Amino acid sequence: KPRVLSGIQPTGGSYHLGNYLGAVRNWVGMQETHDAFYCVVDLHAITAGHDPKLLRERTRVSVAQLLAVGLDPARCTVFVQSHVPEHAQLGWVMSCITGFGEASRMTQFKDKSSKQGAERSSVGLFTYPILQAADILLYQADSVPVGEDQRQHLELTRDLAQRFNTLFGKTFTLPQPHIVKETAKILDLQDPSAKMSKSASTTNGLIELLEPAAKIAKKIKSAVTDTGRDIVFDPEAKAGVSNLLTIYSALSGRPIAELVEAYAGKGYGDLKKDLAEVVVEFVTPFQQRTQEYLDDPAQLDKLLVIGAEKARTVSVRTLATVYDKIGFLAPA
Ligand code: TYM
Repeated sequence: KPRVLSGIQPTGGSYHLGNYLGAVRNWVGMQETHDAFYCVVDLHAITAGHDPKLLRERTRVSVAQLLAVGLDPARCTVFVQSHVPEHAQLGWVMSCITGFGEASRMTQFKDKSSKQGAERSSVGLFTYPILQAADILLYQADSVPVGEDQRQHLELTRDLAQRFNTLFGKTFTLPQPHIVKETAKILDLQDPSAKMSKSASTTNGLIELLEPAAKIAKKIKSAVTDTGRDIVFDPEAKAGVSNLLTIYSALSGRPIAELVEAYAGKGYGDLKKDLAEVVVEFVTPFQQRTQEYLDDPAQLDKLLVIGAEKARTVSVRTLATVYDKIGFLAPA
């Protein structure tokens, strides 16, 4: 089976609809077809300031959500990044073959650091994509299911893998991004020119999977739509309505063309009302399942021990090969 790896930050607690539709949903299907590794990236979550108590809580909440959407620890490997020390170890090695200029060109760093000023950003935020490359290469992943915003980080990963292979001999598999076009970039409901994100200035355009259903419905009903009244799919001219149709189609399984036909002659209000129902129908059992996993933290932690053990059967081997290739003296 081909290998897949992906990761998600525990930073916000609840995942949002973009995380789910852009990435996590695809992870579920891939656990059948791939040898799949999915990690909650807590090392990445400390790059921009954090609260220790909240981080610990949110790491469990993250894992619970992954199980609630249908990741099955019997069929894939779910683990927490810091439980597998090889991530940080390979991260260091990869940072030593990354150019400073190359790292400086990462747009996500530029975006995030411009908010607080590059001067005040942590070095960890700067080297974040290098650690991400290590996450992927450690497992020799063939495929990495992510949203559009991770494309550049995947390119860096491939560049670093190739460079290492050239310098020290073939070691790493070059991973392909797996980006599903339709849902690769879910937009903010209040500002359809921006992707849905926790760091938006208001949370009105952000649908968090764990927030109360009534609040979710309200946010959808007050989503910004476009001028005109026709419900058509035109991401350029009608980004707001098209985004709603994308979400609707992804969650209901109904093709966009069918939805457009069904809503011919109806108004934006009808569409939003029905979409609110579709989303609430999805989140209600999801929230219940997440809570059930959280009610038994000992069981959750046990699953994570097993996950880390499975992950380490691969990561230890890759790191040993890397250490050998770069000329580290093996401890006698
Ligand atoms: P993170 O935690 O920000 O997001 C998790 C996944 O959700 C996707 N995503 C979206 N997809 C569609 N529309 C959106 N509005 C949207 N917002 C987020 C992201 O593309 C991502 O796939 N750097 C990564 C975490 C990471 C990782 C890795 C990923 C660390 N190591 C190794 C893959 C492989 C991140 O911050 O994702």
